Amino acid sequence: MAFFRSASLTDPGPTVSGHGVLLRAPQMTDHAEWAGLREESRDFLTPWEPVWPADDLTRASFRRRVRRYAEDQRTDQAYAFLIFRDTDGALVGGLTLANIRRGVAQAGSIGYWIGERFKRQGYMTRAVQALIPFAFETLRLHRLEAACLPSNNASIGLLEKTGFRREGYAREYLCINGVWADHLLYARLKHDPPGTP
Ligand SMILES: CC(C)(COP(=O)(O)OP(=O)(O)OC[C@H]1O[C@@H](n2cnc3c(N)ncnc32)[C@H](O)[C@@H]1OP(=O)(O)O)[C@@H](O)C(=O)NCCC(=O)NCCS
Repeated sequence: MAFFRSASLTDPGPTVSGHGVLLRAPQMTDHAEWAGLREESRDFLTPWEPVWPADDLTRASFRRRVRRYAEDQRTDQAYAFLIFRDTDGALVGGLTLANIRRGVAQAGSIGYWIGERFKRQGYMTRAVQALIPFAFETLRLHRLEAACLPSNNASIGLLEKTGFRREGYAREYLCINGVWADHLLYARLKHDPPGTP
């Protein structure tokens, strides 16, 4: 059942495409564009993410990130993707399928960010739509989960638009921007309808 790759750390990993975007694992050649987009989007992103380490945008930190992602992918624990726009190849954001649990769960959790200048243009909706067949058919997962702050209207709108249903409320679920914060819990099951984009 598990989707184990026999890949090495230099394997580019799976590519997911469709809906006008291409998703692939980060590579060292992405560093400058990634760091530039994250830096210019810092104020937009940091309220919703774990605290960025001081060296987060450096090349050395990115190298560690790329290695960790490759290892996670090789061992079927997580699949981290950057999102590129089909029309010109521009990097618009990132989408990660993580915390993969096999056995009786066959579940994983998604996390995502979009560069500020690309916000509200439908890119994350398209990226999640592209990820769905990869998660449910290629990886054979049964359940995708997501969690967001109750004040994150953009994330709530995205999840509901892409067919995720609200299932619960978890107290102090994740440490976001330095604070243990309550989260809304969402999930989409393999046979759920696709939402209303
Ligand atoms: C959440 C996020 C990834 C959405 O990406 P996006 O590409 O802008 O999303 P889309 O353009 O595909 O929009 C999908 C839906 O989300 C909702 N949405 C997006 N931005 C919104 C905003 N600023 N206010 C209210 N709803 C919003 C809408 O319902 C939208 O559908 P609509 O445009 O048809 O009304 C992006 O806002 C982001 O990166 N935010 C900061 C980081 C973050 O919140 N990460 C997630 C933590 S859980």
